[in-house]
Amino acid sequence: MLTDSLTNFRVTLASRPVGEPTEANFRIDRRPVPEIAEGEILLQVLYLSLDPYMRGRMDAAKSYAAPVAIGDVMEGGTVARILKSRNRSYTPGEIVLSHSGWQSYAVANGDGLRKLNPESAPISTALGVLGMPGFTAYAGLRNIGKPMAGETVVVAAASGAVGSAVGQIAKINGARAVGIAGGKEKCTFVLDELGFDAVIDHTKADFADALAASCSNGIDVYFENVGGPIWDAVFPLLNDFARVPVCGLIAHYNGEVSARPDRLTDVMRTILRKSLTIRGFIQREFADQRPEFYQEASKWIAEGRLKYREDIVDGLENAPRAFIGLLKGRNFGKLIVRVSE
Ligand SMILES: NC(=O)c1ccc[n+]([C@@H]2O[C@H](COP(=O)([O-])OP(=O)(O)OC[C@H]3O[C@@H](n4cnc5c(N)ncnc54)[C@H](OP(=O)(O)O)[C@@H]3O)[C@@H](O)[C@H]2O)c1
Repeated sequence: MLTDSLTNFRVTLASRPVGEPTEANFRIDRRPVPEIAEGEILLQVLYLSLDPYMRGRMDAAKSYAAPVAIGDVMEGGTVARILKSRNRSYTPGEIVLSHSGWQSYAVANGDGLRKLNPESAPISTALGVLGMPGFTAYAGLRNIGKPMAGETVVVAAASGAVGSAVGQIAKINGARAVGIAGGKEKCTFVLDELGFDAVIDHTKADFADALAASCSNGIDVYFENVGGPIWDAVFPLLNDFARVPVCGLIAHYNGEVSARPDRLTDVMRTILRKSLTIRGFIQREFADQRPEFYQEASKWIAEGRLKYREDIVDGLENAPRAFIGLLKGRNFGKLIVRVSE
């Protein structure tokens, strides 16, 4: 594992990918850990979250957040231990949620950190089920999907960080949860461990027919995580007044899904005819609902109604490969890098 007490191991953006990222787009370097000034703290990163949005940060294209500059540390959410503090609000030994990026140490001024209580939940959950992805599921359903008892909610990437929470929260709301996942192992997990009502394997040739058979009363809420051929199979099944929170389009992030017929007219006609609501969102739009989320999600976890799976990779040096795999469905659960013991 690339850590010691003197050196900051960093993963920086070496070049912008064209299509799929490769390990050559990243560079690992070493820098001395800087001294902290008055008001600052030194963080030792314990866990780094790897998330699909990071693919967008590798491009120069305009988006809802600024790109990572070439040569800069890749950005990312982290759980860190305070090693040294010259800030009266923080004490060495405390554990915080920070946004320290792909590196083993970071200096911070204390702004934007959230203290974590290791007694109340495993600290890695602050990056997953009790963190940004869990909140994304909660906020997208609460504000846009609005599932009602008896309705059918469909979500793809259903074994993953966001999708797993979407289906379970839909069920807490009394809806029927149908998951879409890639491969037998993930599908078995979604059905047997997470308790979805049905699951469809999108890698199978009969995927679209199987989805239609499983949603014989149509789809009331489709929580869009993926796009591509999965969206094509879902779209004709949407009921009148269906809601589609557009959360992510991971199938398009590397630009692979191209040369598809232009269906805009058909889509717009259907939106009109079926009175559909299709609404994109970035979770931070609903940031004021985070306190309620932490409270409700913690309760659901304690009651066994909200389960989660983490896919933990050891060592910062393995972050690039793990991240490339995330964009191909190689992760199984919330992808997290253990940076330090
Ligand atoms: N709007 C927001 O604020 C917000 C916040 C967080 C996340 N998101 C979005 O939510 C989605 C899920 O994120 P996550 O963190 O929960 O990731 P995740 O589900 O833990 O991992 C990604 C999963 O996506 C599926 N996938 C990857 N490439 C695919 C492809 N080409 N076609 C179909 N499926 C593919 C794979 O699952 P299978 O093997 O099961 O297909 C993979 O395991 C992403 O689109 C992400 O960008 C949005």
